[in-house]
Amino acid sequence: MLTPCLPAEIERVLVTEAEIAAAVDELADRLSRDYAGRHPVMVGALTGAVVFLADLMRRLDFPLTVDTVAVSSYGGGHETSGELSWGKALSTDVRGRAVVIVEDIVDSGLTLARLRAALTEAGAADVAVCALLSKPARRQVDVPVEYVGLEIPDEFVVGYGLDYAQRWRNLPFVGVLRREVYA
Ligand code: IMP
Repeated sequence: MLTPCLPAEIERVLVTEAEIAAAVDELADRLSRDYAGRHPVMVGALTGAVVFLADLMRRLDFPLTVDTVAVSSYGGGHETSGELSWGKALSTDVRGRAVVIVEDIVDSGLTLARLRAALTEAGAADVAVCALLSKPARRQVDVPVEYVGLEIPDEFVVGYGLDYAQRWRNLPFVGVLRREVYA
């Protein structure tokens, strides 16, 4: 496969397309073992998780429901505000259902901790989290993440759904954004 041209703002590729595909396969295998026969609700966190959700769900061959929520603790920039704002609520009644939150990346964990609590409050029988990426060095709250694709260092990354100010979501790999772009 040809290596796509690196945009000038991207310092380097951190996770290649092949590494992403291998991580998604591994997560799908684990989810298939744990959720086959349970008809879970897979809740994708918009917008960052759309690419991951699309790839992941096509590797799951058991009955499931797909829904999305838009929650954010970020503004246009790269630092968390700590405030959870809702852009789109759940469309599915999760009462009594197994729920898997599908996240692009867990950073401080604040967004996720609040989303987990909201889904439990909505009556989910159990809630688990499947995140493609995790930055453990940035964690501010001790929130469980049951399924992690790859742990990455404390760098601001874009691509494969992840953005900075709505750009670079369409890169097929995960790349480190040059600090001067957001500093
Ligand atoms: P948390 O609440 O700090 O864990 O933030 C989670 C959300 O922040 C993710 O779902 C992303 O949308 C965004 N985020 C965190 N780190 C990055 C990054 O390195 N690049 C792009 N978005 C990020």
